[in-house]
Amino acid sequence: MTDRQTASDSSPNGPSRRPLIAGNWKMHKLPSEAQSWTREFLAALETLSGAGGDSGDNRDSGNRGLACDVALAVPFTHLLGMARLTFGSALALGSQDVSAHEQGAYTGEVAAAMVKDCGATYAVVGHSERRAYHAEDDALINQKLVRSFEAGLVPILCVGETREQRDAGDAEEVVIGQLHEALAGVSSQAAADLVVAYEPVWAIGTGLTATAADAQDMCAAVRRQLASQLPEHADAIRIVYGGSMKPSNAVELLAQPDIDGGLIGGASLARDDLLEIVRAATR
Ligand code: PGA
Repeated sequence: MTDRQTASDSSPNGPSRRPLIAGNWKMHKLPSEAQSWTREFLAALETLSGAGGDSGDNRDSGNRGLACDVALAVPFTHLLGMARLTFGSALALGSQDVSAHEQGAYTGEVAAAMVKDCGATYAVVGHSERRAYHAEDDALINQKLVRSFEAGLVPILCVGETREQRDAGDAEEVVIGQLHEALAGVSSQAAADLVVAYEPVWAIGTGLTATAADAQDMCAAVRRQLASQLPEHADAIRIVYGGSMKPSNAVELLAQPDIDGGLIGGASLARDDLLEIVRAATR
C-alpha cells in the first residue's frame, strides 16, 4: 500500500487525494538556465512550506509542510543536473516521454529505467503533442505505460479530446476510449500509483480553458471508468486537469471534487505563476 492510499483510506470524510501540481516544460529552457531557475524555485517553495499547509501525507521527507506534491516534467537533457539540486526537496522530477522498449538498438530513444536512474519520479505518457506529432496511438501508449510501471516511475497518462470531437458530442467517448486502451492488461497492483491527466487538446497552449464544470464532468467520467477497470484504486488515483491552467483559473479548477491537481505547460515556465498554482492547491 502506498503512502497516498493510506491518506485516502484514513480520511474520515472519504477519499482525500493529495494534490499534484506538475509543470510540463516541453522543449523550453537550456539545462544551464534550469539550474538557476530551480535554485530560486526551491527557495520559494521552502518559504511556502514553512508558511502554511498541513503536514499531510508526504511522498518524501522533502515535502514536509507542503500540502501537495510538486513536480516538473523536463527534457531528458535536464534531468540529471536538476536531480542533483532537487534531491531530498519538495520538487520531484519527471520526463515528458519514455521509450516503449525496455532497452536495445533503438537510436535516439530513452528508456524508462534510464529516466528513473537519473532521479525522476514521474513520466508523462501519451501527451497530445506526442499523439499528434509523433503518431503515438493507444497501443504504443499502453507499452510506454507498462515500461514506466516496470521502471518504478509514476506515469502521468494524458487523455483528451480535440475541438472537433467535443463539438460532435464525442468527447467522453474519446477520452474513455483512450483510457481503456492505455490501461489494457495493466495489473491492478502496478496501477496503484497511476496519475491521469485530462487535457482537452483545444485548451493546450491556446489560453482557452475548459469550464470548471466541464472539466469536473470529464474527470468524474474518468473516475467511473477507473472504477470499472481498477476498482481497488479508483478512489485513490489522482486525476489532474491540463490545458491553459494558470493562477487566474487554478483555484476554481482545483476546487472541483474530481480534479486532484494540474499539468501545467506555459504557466510552469514562470516561477511565480507556478508557485501561485501550488499555493492554490494547498488552500
Ligand atoms: P498548457 O499546456 O498549460 O500550456 O496549456 C499543458 C500541457 O500541455 O500539459
